[in-house]
Amino acid sequence: MSGNQESGCLTFYVNGKKVTERDVDPETMLLPYLRKRMRLTGAKYGCGGGGCGACTVMLSRYQVHSRSVVHCAVNACLLPVCQLHGAAVTTVEGIGSTKTKLHPVQERIAKAHGSQCGFCTPGMVMSMYTLLRNKPQPTMEDITEALAGNLCRCTGYRPILDGYKTFCESSNCCQNSGAKSCSSGNSISENNSNCCQQNGKEPGRANGNEVTDDVENGHLKLFNTDNLLPLDPTQDLIFPPELIRMTESGLQATQTFRGERITWVSPISLDEVVDLKSRHPEAPIVIGNTNIGLDIKFKGILHPFIISPTRVPDLFVVKNTPQGVSVGAGCSMSVVRAALEDLVRTLPLDQTEVHRALLQQLGNLAGQQIRNVATLGGNIVSAYPNSDLNPVLAAGNCRLTVVSKGGRREIPMNKDFFVGFGKTLLNPDEIAVSVFIPVSRKGEFVRAFRQAPRKENALATVNAGMRVRFHDGSSVVDELSIFYGGVGPCTVGASKTCQQIIGRPWGEKALTAAYPVLLEEILLPPSAPGGKVAFRRALTLNFLFKFFLQMQQKLAEMGIITDDLQQDMRSSLEALPNDFLPSYQEFQDVLEGQPGQDPVGRPMMHRSALSQATGEAVYCDDMPKTEGELFLSLVTSTKAHAKILNIDVSAALALPGVVDVITARDIPGKKFRMFCGMNEELLAEKEVTCVGQMVCAVVADTKPHAKRGAAAVKITYEDQPELVFTVEEAIEKKSFFEPLREIERGNVSEGFKMADHIHEGEIRIGGQEHFYMETQSMLVIPVGEEGEMNVYLSTQHPAMAQDSIAETLDIPSNRVTCHIKRIGGAFGGKVTKTTILACITAVAAWKTERSVRLVLERGEDMLITGARHPVLGQYKIGYMKDGRITAADVKYYANAGNTADESPLIVAKILLHFDNAYNIPNMRGRSAACKTNLPSNTAFRGFGVPQCMLVTESIINDVALKLGRPAEEIRELNMYRGPSLTHYKMPFDPENMLRCWEECKRRSSIQRRRGDIAQFNQHNRFKKRGLALVPIKYGIGFDIAFLNQAAALVHIFQDGSVLVNHGGAEMGQGIHTKMQQVASRELRIPTSLIHISETNTHMVPNTCPSAASFGTDANGMAVKDACETLYKRLEPIRKRNPEGPWQSWIKAAFLEKISLSATGYYRGHDLYMDWEKQEGQPYAYFTYGVCCCEVELDCLTGDYRTIRTDMVFDIGRSINPSIDIGQIEGAFTQGVGLYTMEELKFSPSGVLYTRGPGQYKIPAVCDVPLQFNIYLLRGTQNPHAIYSSKGIGEPALFLGSSVFFALKDAVAAARSDAGLSGPFEFHSPATPERACLACASHLTQMVPISKPGSFQPWAIETP
Ligand SMILES: Cc1cc2nc3c(=O)[nH]c(=O)nc-3n(C[C@H](O)[C@H](O)[C@H](O)COP(=O)(O)OP(=O)(O)OC[C@H]3O[C@@H](n4cnc5c(N)ncnc54)[C@H](O)[C@@H]3O)c2cc1C
Ligand code: FES
Ligand code: FES
Repeated sequence: MSGNQESGCLTFYVNGKKVTERDVDPETMLLPYLRKRMRLTGAKYGCGGGGCGACTVMLSRYQVHSRSVVHCAVNACLLPVCQLHGAAVTTVEGIGSTKTKLHPVQERIAKAHGSQCGFCTPGMVMSMYTLLRNKPQPTMEDITEALAGNLCRCTGYRPILDGYKTFCESSNCCQNSGAKSCSSGNSISENNSNCCQQNGKEPGRANGNEVTDDVENGHLKLFNTDNLLPLDPTQDLIFPPELIRMTESGLQATQTFRGERITWVSPISLDEVVDLKSRHPEAPIVIGNTNIGLDIKFKGILHPFIISPTRVPDLFVVKNTPQGVSVGAGCSMSVVRAALEDLVRTLPLDQTEVHRALLQQLGNLAGQQIRNVATLGGNIVSAYPNSDLNPVLAAGNCRLTVVSKGGRREIPMNKDFFVGFGKTLLNPDEIAVSVFIPVSRKGEFVRAFRQAPRKENALATVNAGMRVRFHDGSSVVDELSIFYGGVGPCTVGASKTCQQIIGRPWGEKALTAAYPVLLEEILLPPSAPGGKVAFRRALTLNFLFKFFLQMQQKLAEMGIITDDLQQDMRSSLEALPNDFLPSYQEFQDVLEGQPGQDPVGRPMMHRSALSQATGEAVYCDDMPKTEGELFLSLVTSTKAHAKILNIDVSAALALPGVVDVITARDIPGKKFRMFCGMNEELLAEKEVTCVGQMVCAVVADTKPHAKRGAAAVKITYEDQPELVFTVEEAIEKKSFFEPLREIERGNVSEGFKMADHIHEGEIRIGGQEHFYMETQSMLVIPVGEEGEMNVYLSTQHPAMAQDSIAETLDIPSNRVTCHIKRIGGAFGGKVTKTTILACITAVAAWKTERSVRLVLERGEDMLITGARHPVLGQYKIGYMKDGRITAADVKYYANAGNTADESPLIVAKILLHFDNAYNIPNMRGRSAACKTNLPSNTAFRGFGVPQCMLVTESIINDVALKLGRPAEEIRELNMYRGPSLTHYKMPFDPENMLRCWEECKRRSSIQRRRGDIAQFNQHNRFKKRGLALVPIKYGIGFDIAFLNQAAALVHIFQDGSVLVNHGGAEMGQGIHTKMQQVASRELRIPTSLIHISETNTHMVPNTCPSAASFGTDANGMAVKDACETLYKRLEPIRKRNPEGPWQSWIKAAFLEKISLSATGYYRGHDLYMDWEKQEGQPYAYFTYGVCCCEVELDCLTGDYRTIRTDMVFDIGRSINPSIDIGQIEGAFTQGVGLYTMEELKFSPSGVLYTRGPGQYKIPAVCDVPLQFNIYLLRGTQNPHAIYSSKGIGEPALFLGSSVFFALKDAVAAARSDAGLSGPFEFHSPATPERACLACASHLTQMVPISKPGSFQPWAIETP
């Protein structure tokens, strides 16, 4: 060390409290430190890798040079505690609470209905809170940017944005939403009356009460802004003066922390860093930890020595000179961005070409939390193949200054700088000190390009930096520099291509000659890692083309060339629309005469929303550690099909902290679970049939020890032949789970005979990861007496978990109590899979006689627990010239994975819904669950319906494309009309479906917009708009009769407070809130007197799963029944004392020995499906909806934006419109993910690549439709469910397909420009890759396509 005093003592503050730490393990990140050590469980674990934002906290530091405090939102999961010296951390608990005072950011997200399961809510709150600390009156753009790094799987984000929009300056006007003027004539602003300025309404008037019942401009509102807590900076914690003094004193010492495996040194001078690096050249320099952190966590790379120069001033200097700016390599992306923005404001525009190109990339690089810590130097030196900055820095002639014992040198960031994956010209002992960004010269232009799987917070698929310098006053190219990212192991230059253009005038000719050179130069082999080969190659061409257009426009502007850019090309250079317009939610009012106290039918905030927003809500892993508790970590198969020859646990058992290893032999009872009549092993004993199958489990004193133990278990396998991954392979090998299903209506062969045309086609629909924000979590606590077990877990089906655990342990069910407080999202993925995990955890608890906790890492969860089934749909259809479909013969093959799970039920449900809204007289459906060597797939919201209906709608779309007519006309022509029978002979009346259809057409002014879109498409060559109107008819209920029953237990306590227990699990869908509303109506008391604590198998036994959109229907009736009983029992007392109050009735009842506890029961509908006869009544009723979406597509990148969505839903009389609209928006957004974004990728040997938010993209804030209108159909009734309501949890998911079909519509317009017409292959998800390639532009068509079969692709097609 360089003479400074060495110490390993940290001083920092958390929520205003001083923390002094001496012996921190460098591997400890702030998130587990807060959650486990400090018991601040508000920040959540969602991914551990900076990709979800659930762990967001605010980090504040005092800066001596500016004498100010800087506040940043950061991901606690990637922040090493060792770096906290001198910092103040604020968590969600530190800003407000329900016990003291809420903070407005907490209150507004809750009251705007922006919190469903609530798991993402603390992270959202903290991102927004930090924004407000820095900018108390943000713009809408600020808000969307601040929330770009926060994922939510439940809400669809619209309510979160609406809640936070209220902080915008003069939030009273909708204009403030960042929208273009509502009156600007913008074609998507259909209804100018939406603008508050135009219709004279006075926004901001409302209540903030628990129950919203306000009317605004004749419309009821979901969320009112009156009485909201004002933003009050005095409520904020002040930055600790002690830390200011500490920082100002300048008294700093080198700090060293030694952990179990890592030594961490935090030096304070550059000399010291140089010295350390010379002695430890292999040691990483860690500042942001956004790369190294992931390596350690996810790749298991151990760095025994780490140098963290966060306090070395030389690395943070930003220095301007007339030649350019030198930016310290340690500066975070946010600091770099601010510095460049400053320069762009102050320097002449023509000097800031590189600055602006960098700013463009910085605006899209990761989310705010990552940008606040990830450093410039780290980005450069990490040398990611798809770093966003490197191509621009390289093209922009930037230079890197490095230092080592050997001295200082400046390295040009040119084509020689990047030498391979993760490698640059830097020597191992060199430290990057600064980056020099030159001012641009006369005639020089720099541009940046980027395409990513999601518009924001996603690593680029391909990016580029391009620079050109024209010869004085001419269009002749003097210099040209082109660099790409994402097309090789590192940033690559295209110098040959540049040479082709240099010396020639900028024009078509030079460009046309350059394309083939570029294709030769940037070669991607067909099996290149990352796949998407044709797309990536197309992007290299398309970016060059965009650059060409931009420069052509520039030269024309400068008067250097006369031929201006063609009119229809101009929009190719513009960004996609991004301005929000006010969204609108319409619902029916309660019936006249309904008492004000009765909350049924009124919007009411989720009953836990405030607890969720303050971080007080308790999820499974928030429960405190119990005495002697162990952590369980699973060992999973690395082989897709193999015999297990040996499991060697000796090395694992020898590791510190490891207590035991659990194998199948330890299971005292049944070693398997039976689903759909087929056994599924809990832990594989002799054979594994997929990668990710659970083989054994290690229990240890801590999570890291358990993980290391699991990694040390050695399993010897003998590979088995006959691998089956795809449905085609399964079909060929007849590898199916029985039964195969078939159903037919009419006579299909006759239908084909009478048709004018026959058409055949197929569509592949990819699977979908549930991506519930809370991963599978459980805690099993042995009571220690008579085999009793208390199980706290996150499941939709507690009774199944209870029974299964009992069978596994060979004890009666009455010894096992399952408790579910709340679930952080489930979507079907927390039924069977959770049950198996709970059984394994229970065996560990039983064997060790200690409490055992299991919380899956995101990657494990994605690997082990399966997903939505990928489906291949093959169809043959007959149709008439007018568009009527006479016959359809459809086959569905679902990739079930290695075990049956619920797959046979899913493929059956597919056949019950494949008619959707259409009365096709002759139709046959056949479905099969394919048995493959992939992880077993399971239930997911919609249970097969979203897949089967996409096939149906594709059929309709094909007919429309064949006939050259809008798809909605073909849909309308084929719809059910009048009293009808489904293909399984269930009678129903489609009237409300048709009403939704008509109303959606009217609300979305489809006719006029079709005209506008045609015009737009005519005038724009590479931007296209598309529109689609899609209906749904969705059956509610279980076709297995016994699953429709429910029970409840209601207690009234002597003080009048009521405790409701029922069988439904709260997973964000708001079932507890609705049950509270039911009890409130039946007992005629305010909801504030009613509490629901948890779902508990000993309170309400033998429950059915919370699934199939049926939870409220069934449990609501049971709660109603119990409350009616109780209310009736009170009748004599009520008669004697009609005025009450309630509390006096209850007191009297107790004294008169009237039981104040009652059970309720609902037998449910006797639904059935007779597959032999092919008829039945499998549903209680249908929920109907129609959705119209319009998108704008950039044909050159495949990026798109949904510019408007209108949805009309018939959900009867909604019990709680805010919750139901939340379900509609959330499901729709999940559907948009399914059909346009989310891709599960498997390697050719069956390994799941996509194991976290880094690789698997779910919709984010940037995917919210710019205008998102929901209308609940008025004047509807439903005699089949409680209070005339309808189930709505699942149906809207399919309507996300309206975005898919709108995209297809836009692609069809692009294809028409390319001279192509008729049906075309367009599989789901319609990712940018698929959309761009399907547009078949002249450039895309240049990309040579490798012959299938001639190479091994990087990933396999699962459906
Ligand atoms: C969720 C997420 C999203 C992301 N999205 C994007 C994106 O969209 N675009 C993009 O370009 N990048 C993206 N990144 C990558 C991110 O920008 C880089 O990880 C980051 O810039 C690395 O900086 P760091 O300070 O965190 O590096 P660290 O993890 O601290 O270090 C990384 C490596 O760089 C070396 N290093 C760091 N500083 C120096 C130095 N001064 N001298 C010598 N060596 C040094 C270290 O030795 C180490 O090997 C993303 C990362 C995450 C986690
Ligand atoms: S848990 Fe930290 S970002 Fe996901
Ligand atoms: S409320 Fe956002 S993840 Fe559930």
